[in-house]
Parts: sequence; structure tokens; C-alpha cells
Amino acid sequence: MKKTDKPGSSLFVRRIGRLLTMEPGEGSDGTGTQDAAVVIRDGEVLFAGPESDVDREAVRGMPILDAGQGLVTPGLVDCHTHLVFAGSRADEFEARGAGLSYEEITRRGGGIIRTVESTRAASRDELFTSALPRVWMALRQGITTLEVMSGYGLNLEAELRILEVVRDLDRATPSDIVPTFLGAHAVPPEARDDRERHVDAIVKEWIPAVVEADLARFCDCFCETVAFSRKEAGKVLRAGLEAGLIPKVHADQLSRSGGSQLAAEIGAVSAAHLDFASKNDLDAMARKGVVGVLLPGCGISLGQTRFPEGGPLLDAGMRVALSTDFNPGTSMTQNLTLMGTLAMAYMGMTIGETWAAITSSAAAALGLSHRVGRLAPGYQGDLVVFHTNEPREPFYEYGGSQVSKVVKRGVVVVQRSEEGEISLPAGT
Ligand code: NIG
Ligand code: FE
Repeated sequence: MKKTDKPGSSLFVRRIGRLLTMEPGEGSDGTGTQDAAVVIRDGEVLFAGPESDVDREAVRGMPILDAGQGLVTPGLVDCHTHLVFAGSRADEFEARGAGLSYEEITRRGGGIIRTVESTRAASRDELFTSALPRVWMALRQGITTLEVMSGYGLNLEAELRILEVVRDLDRATPSDIVPTFLGAHAVPPEARDDRERHVDAIVKEWIPAVVEADLARFCDCFCETVAFSRKEAGKVLRAGLEAGLIPKVHADQLSRSGGSQLAAEIGAVSAAHLDFASKNDLDAMARKGVVGVLLPGCGISLGQTRFPEGGPLLDAGMRVALSTDFNPGTSMTQNLTLMGTLAMAYMGMTIGETWAAITSSAAAALGLSHRVGRLAPGYQGDLVVFHTNEPREPFYEYGGSQVSKVVKRGVVVVQRSEEGEISLPAGT
């Protein structure tokens, strides 16, 4: 899934009040470098560090972006979203508030299947039109790379349609959108009487078709009592791996159902949720270098009073990413810095761990550690300028946004005017 159609530009970002490059060690206490600059040439970082060290020859004639003494970080990475869907499940959110559980709602015919019905009924154009502003909403929050999964089609035709929309969104916006095939998200009603045949179809027909059309980089699977067993999920992920799709897992979200063990066994790039993963599970995943993806937005939507803890994962030696899990059922939010607020307030994560979780570690969860999530020579010129120069502020002030400007491959793609309005380039 190489991108050749998005050339980069050159930009000299100067007067940075505080720079977090997220280079190993640098962001660990959230302090970063003061009075800094970033030089981007042809979309790639050439230099990131003290402004006094900038090679004046290298920046001669380059367009300048004045960071106004604000905080600058790498472009944020949202490594787990289900952004292409139709319809709303606000009524389920309300029902949970009144005491019904997610599983009970699913058993009564709600849940993923309801979104599948509305998504199947939507045309490709309708799906694209509803998803496009969501990608721009992500950009406004500073998210310059995001993963988007299929999983609300659940038949081959609808799954391919969603993945085509994901590809088109990538082409139509400055964002890098990483596509994931999540055909094994739930068992659709028409397949309930013969699950084995259904899993067989995913393995023998769907995966080859997705790979043939070059529509996904990853294969994910919802391993859970209300979705696929560890054995079924294993079949799907192994078939994906053999066909060239890197495995990821929705693991141990609602119960300890074997997803983490499977992630370790198969060497998944990342495992998401992990609310019920045991210490042994975490140790096994750490040994295999699986990145843990925590999704505290689900805690809000599911009405939980506990959030997944970052400490046990980090103690086990796992890298920890945070993501919105943006989806209509369990996490109707695109606010990635709000996830950082929850991480600091409820999940025992430090400021440095929190920044890493939405930049460098989130990039690792997508196998993109070499390209995004850091500001160092050779990395993509993706960055966010915040109004504040204090690294805690974007999490301390929750629910809003402190984003001032967003740069993608050296191009300013979002900017806030002095009145607080956000203006976007023409045509968006
Ligand atoms: O990541 N866990 C599985 N999938 C989604 C929920 C999807 C839905 O309820 O529509 C998640 O939480
Ligand atoms: Fe998810």
C-alpha cells in the first residue's frame, strides 16, 4: 500500500516554544526541547532540534511557518478506528445508561449487526460522503495517520465496498490511512447456522479477494464470546498472514477469551482492548513484541467505571498505544487527546507515556515506526502546533482542542484563525 501520489513540500517551522520529537528517551518526562525548529524538505524531516543549530544554508528560501512559541509534536497517530459506517446507535448508548449490558443488547439483535444492516444498505458514495468529514475531523485534532477497518459489511461484496471507500479516503485527503480487513468482526445472521462454513469462506474467498484487490495491509479479528472463538480467530489470522496480511487482534475486551494468547502465538503486530488480559498473557505478548492498544473511549460508552491500566502492560515490557476505537457502538469519539486525558487520570500513565501512546507507540502498532510518530531526520514531515507550549495542557484541558496548526508532509493542512475558527484548504 505505497503512496506515490502525495508529494511532500518543504517547510521551515521556527519559533517552537517546546518541541517533543518523541525520539527514544527525549519524551520520557514530557519536557522536550525549548526554542526549537523543524526543517522539512520535500515532505521529509531534515532537522529537528534547537533553532540555534539550524543550518541557515539549508533553509534559505524555504517557506516559513511561525509556531508562535507553541508546543510542537509529531503528527498524531490513531491506530484503531472503524470510521466507515452508516447509521447511529445512540439508543443503545442510552439503554446502557439504563442498565442493559453491551452483550445483552447484542443478544437482543442490537450491536454490530445493526450497523452492518445500515452499512450494507448504504451505497459506496454514501459511505464515502459520510466518512470524508470524519477524516477531516481527525486531521483537525492533529491526527495525520490513522488506521481504518472494514467489519460492518460482513459479506464479501460489502466488505470490499468499505475497503474501497477507505482507499478512496486515503486518495482524497492529506491523511495516511492504513487499511485493515476485519471481515471476522461478528457472525452475520445468515451464517449463524453454519459458522464453520462462514469461517471457511472468510479464509478461502474473502481474504484472497481482498489481497488480490490490494485493499488491506492488516487482518484483524474480534476474538470474543459474542464474536469469534480463539480457534476461529486463529484460522482467519493465519490465513491472512499466509496471504500477506499482518495480524492484529481485538483481544479480551469483554472477557478473557483467548485473544491475547492468540496475539502472542501468531506474533500479531498489536492487540487492542486487553481489559481482561492476565499477567501471563501480557508477558507472552511482551516476549513477542506485540504492541498493546488501549481504548478508554469504550469505557465511557459502555458506562464502565474502570479503565484498562497502562502500568501492567508497561511493566510486562509491552509498548502501549492509545486509540479512539472510533465506532458507532462502543466509542463514538474522534478525540484522541481525550484518550490521553483518561490515560493520565485513570490509567496510571505518565505524561511521557501518554505522548508516546498517541505518537511513536501508535506508529509501532501499525508497523510504521520507521516513518511516522517521531520527528527525526528521515521521518515524514507530519507535525502538530498547539496553542500552548506546555505538554500537559492538551490533556489537562479535555473535551476541546488546543490544536493551532497541522502539517502533513511539509504542507499546512489545518490552521486556526485568530478568532478560533478552523480554516481548511480550498476544496475540502
Ligand atoms: O472495537 N470490539 C469490537 N468492535 C468494536 C465495537 C463495534 C460495535 O459495537 O459496533 C470495538 O469496540
Ligand atoms: Fe475496535
